[in-house]
Amino acid sequence: MNISIAIMAAGFGTRMKSKIPKVLHKISGYEMLYHTIKEAQKISDDIHVILYHQSDLVQKHMNKYFDDLNYIIQDYNNFPGTGGAIRGINAKNKKLLVLNGDMPLLEEKDMLLFANESAKVVMSSFTCEDSSGYGRVIIDSNNNVEKIVEEKDATNEEKKVKDVNAGVYLFDSDFLKNNLPKLTNNNKQKEYYITDLIKIAKEQNITVKAIKVDEEIFMGVNSKYHLSIAEVIMQNRIKKRFMEDGVIMRLPSSIYIEANVQISGESVIENGVSLLGDTKILDSIIKTNSVVENSIIENSNIGPMARIRPDSHISYTHIGNFVEVKKSTLKGVKAGHLSYLGDCSIDEGTNIGCGTITCNYDGKAKYKTIIGKNVFIGSDTQLVAPVTIEDDVIIASGTTVTKNVKKGSLAINREPLKIIDNFFYKFFGKNNG
Ligand code: UD1
Ligand code: CA
Repeated sequence: MNISIAIMAAGFGTRMKSKIPKVLHKISGYEMLYHTIKEAQKISDDIHVILYHQSDLVQKHMNKYFDDLNYIIQDYNNFPGTGGAIRGINAKNKKLLVLNGDMPLLEEKDMLLFANESAKVVMSSFTCEDSSGYGRVIIDSNNNVEKIVEEKDATNEEKKVKDVNAGVYLFDSDFLKNNLPKLTNNNKQKEYYITDLIKIAKEQNITVKAIKVDEEIFMGVNSKYHLSIAEVIMQNRIKKRFMEDGVIMRLPSSIYIEANVQISGESVIENGVSLLGDTKILDSIIKTNSVVENSIIENSNIGPMARIRPDSHISYTHIGNFVEVKKSTLKGVKAGHLSYLGDCSIDEGTNIGCGTITCNYDGKAKYKTIIGKNVFIGSDTQLVAPVTIEDDVIIASGTTVTKNVKKGSLAINREPLKIIDNFFYKFFGKNNG
């Protein structure tokens, strides 16, 4: 599509009361700015991100995901404000869509609402009960937009207006080129306001098209309270999409699923589950209060209260309560209770007894544990890595395995059990009976 997009993200975000720049605060696992850029890329290949406050840090975060963005550092000292933000943009296309970096809920469809407009100047507004903090939209007697007045500059009469500026605009590049230099900072905040372009358009008899938008989606995140509201809205969207695709969710409001998780097939996600990062769930049941991060789960059941840490691939497997798995491949395995399985691969038909621990770390480096097919590992076993257990092995309960074990063997390292008659009575000085 022939449209350029500018995302304003240079502001200080003072109302967030945080050392972290506003646009780096996360919703559903990803920075607010990431969500906006990801959606913007669906309709434009000419995206300009305007930065100033902690710009290196913001760029560093965005470089994790994107490599084709134009970063513009706002000349904040000379031109502060949203009008100053868009000064340095050299848009490739005739139309420039201007978005705020603090609106993480906008999707492609909301952007398209603007992109398809032909008017030279398009703005957005919604009507709300509590308009405080927003710019008020002043309508003239012909029912056209006359101007936008910021709250700090508004008269008491203007403050009562409930139509507010939603903060998204579409401009003809020519209009911007001719009129950006005309902006002044003649206002309470001594800033250059993008909103003054509306008044300038009106003075030039250019009709300003105003699009009515949904407050819930266009709400700007200005505080951590707003962040929590936006989070709930995004979570509801994510979960609704999966449920419509056939996933069962028990008490969905208690489940947290990050934006890039994939769930497919006949899967069940029970209450209290967290699915994080690039997790993929296929035809599996994730039971109450389990956490799965950056892992693949196929045809398996996990939990309750299991923790699957990054880079695990679990298939045709049963993982029970209080089992932690990290960077491991489990295929056709049963690990029912209380185990740590880290840096290992475990093959089909193997049973991991309660209390099994892969000792993968010696204080300096991490080592691998390889367990073959049909292995029976007794309860309370320590596997000191690096170690390989071949197929068809039995490890006796309570064994500390420090050597590789060959196919078909039993590994056992037990002290003979001593039983001393009547020791209890001697020790406590009591008589038997
Ligand atoms: C702005 C609008 C207001 C509107 C509201 C909608 C102006 C003057 N006011 O107010 O009419 O109702 O959004 O949410 O535009 N930014 C920069 N450079 C700057 C200042 C801000 O890039 O010098 C960026 C911020 O990072 C942010 C966006 O612009 O992403 C909006 O800034 P913010 O300070 O939140 O504006 P509001 O006061 O909310
Ligand atoms: Ca804002």
